[in-house]
Amino acid sequence: MAATEQTAALTPVLTKRWLSPKSWTLRTYEQLEGYTALRTALAAHPDQLIQLVKDSGLRGRGGAGFPTGMKWGFIPQNDGKPHYLVINADEGEPGTCKDVPLMMADPHSLIEGIIITAYAIRANFAAIYVRGEVLHCIRRLNAAVREAYQAGYLGKNILDSGFDLDVVVHAGAGAYICGEETALLDSLEGKRGQPRLKPPFPATAGLYASPTVVNNVETIASVPYIVNGGSDWFRSMGRDKSPGPKIYSLSGHVTRPGQYEAPMGSTLRDLLELAGGMKDGIPLKFWTPGGSSTPLFTAEHLDVPLDFEGAAQAGSMLGTTALQIFNETVSVPWAVMKWTQFYEHESCGKCTPCREGTYWLAQILERMVRGEGRPEDIDTLLDVCDNIFGRSFCALGDGAVSPIVSGIKYFRHEFLELCETNRANLADRAQQAEQ
Ligand code: NAI
Ligand code: SF4
Repeated sequence: MAATEQTAALTPVLTKRWLSPKSWTLRTYEQLEGYTALRTALAAHPDQLIQLVKDSGLRGRGGAGFPTGMKWGFIPQNDGKPHYLVINADEGEPGTCKDVPLMMADPHSLIEGIIITAYAIRANFAAIYVRGEVLHCIRRLNAAVREAYQAGYLGKNILDSGFDLDVVVHAGAGAYICGEETALLDSLEGKRGQPRLKPPFPATAGLYASPTVVNNVETIASVPYIVNGGSDWFRSMGRDKSPGPKIYSLSGHVTRPGQYEAPMGSTLRDLLELAGGMKDGIPLKFWTPGGSSTPLFTAEHLDVPLDFEGAAQAGSMLGTTALQIFNETVSVPWAVMKWTQFYEHESCGKCTPCREGTYWLAQILERMVRGEGRPEDIDTLLDVCDNIFGRSFCALGDGAVSPIVSGIKYFRHEFLELCETNRANLADRAQQAEQ
């Protein structure tokens, strides 16, 4: 079957061990082919691994979809500087819940991917930056790292290859902005986490100003499978420009919310079938394809292929493949207000459009939802969004306006109804006061 014709049917790859007893232990991991890719990788030249990942077409699973092999290839060689690998496990995008379940169920797939990646980019130190709220996950990762050291997969002279690697698990302090890779690096260095100006990109000046690869958990966990299966096998799943398997997380009004692994390019219709359909049969109203930073979709977008190109062509983004599903009972202005309150709270304050703009957006939306809005508020909202989008220092500002602009695009009448009801109530009250 041509890659582009595939549906959501897929032999599990990234999730294949998740239901095995004690899937998170080294023992189970080794019983199920764990650390076999590492032996193959350490016998190869690092450049061969970079080429393999380039050939596989693997793209970053953190949201932006940057080609992984190309990013690794940016690391300068023979530059005399230490190189670093940093895993972005600060999963904080609203609705996104794929990396934490992966690290809970199969932490060794991440660790094996880390060792192979570090070897390929000639790094001897790697850090896993995990969001501080997920204590259970931090404990599990620490236990897995300890097991890997004891078994000789980490530390000095790994499997007699002459390659050394140390890995630390670093807990963040609960700031969403530290998921932005340069804020994350500042936080890791012990500074206040705020985005740096790019370029230079981390590949040339990252942790402690040294060449650094920053990759998402799911991206790196995919690497051992590519080493074992080969680039053609990886490309046999998904779509030409977005190949491979993907973990989609479905939350909200679906019968069985959770993580579903499917080929890149699967549609919401495919995924809803896996998740048992809409909860209680109440029809779909709107949804996010990749967390709340991606423009909303509606019931008309059920057949949009959810890969980087498909989502973009339909007017949104793939983002973190966090599908938040809302049925007809949910008010769009209310949902948009809740997301905006989140962005207002998480804005790091470094740049004015985002710091001030998200505050005013939240104020206006709260007023509307309280029933005190004015019809002209809708254009004011769009005007403020226009002054944030493309004028903010990092992607948080752009992401903050996505639900508002798309919410008004598809459901303007709901915003208007709220404000017109308010206008009618005001008129009634004025009339009563006169009588
Ligand atoms: P970006 O497109 O600026 O960069 C993507 C990656 O490619 C980065 O690692 C960057 O360093 C690298 N890169 C890009 N151009 C490069 C160049 N010329 N040379 C070297 N390296 C280069 O995107 P960004 O701002 O890193 O991420 C935005 C995405 O993050 C959004 O699409 C959003 O979906 C996602 N996101 C994910 C969250 C999560 O919880 N996983 C939270 C919030 C946003
Ligand atoms: Fe900080 Fe927001 Fe500006 Fe990003 S866009 S630097 S989060 S204030």
